[in-house]
Amino acid sequence: MAIYKVRLIGEADGVDETIEVDDDEFILDVAEAEDIKLPYSCRAGTCSTCTGRVIEGDIQESGGDPDMFFNKGQREAGFRLLCISSPSSDCTVLIHQEPNISQF
Ligand code: FES
Repeated sequence: MAIYKVRLIGEADGVDETIEVDDDEFILDVAEAEDIKLPYSCRAGTCSTCTGRVIEGDIQESGGDPDMFFNKGQREAGFRLLCISSPSSDCTVLIHQEPNISQF
């Protein structure tokens, strides 16, 4: 097990917080425990409400059906479902990104 630093940036609401997340924990769960409010709906990888965009480092999804919501270009741009994502390195993630998916 490894612990990584995950920086969460919410450009619209001025959030800039760094949390420590085990590689077997989900970023959404840890953020909530740290009182950082992230959007969610299903919490199972079957919607896109929790979408974040990784701009540095990487995170891995487990379960759900993220390919239903992101095409190849959007994946390459870093879009991930944070409710089913765990860090695989220190990383920086833009939060509240569902409205921006279609721009990529
Ligand atoms: S909350 Fe639905 S996929 Fe994350």
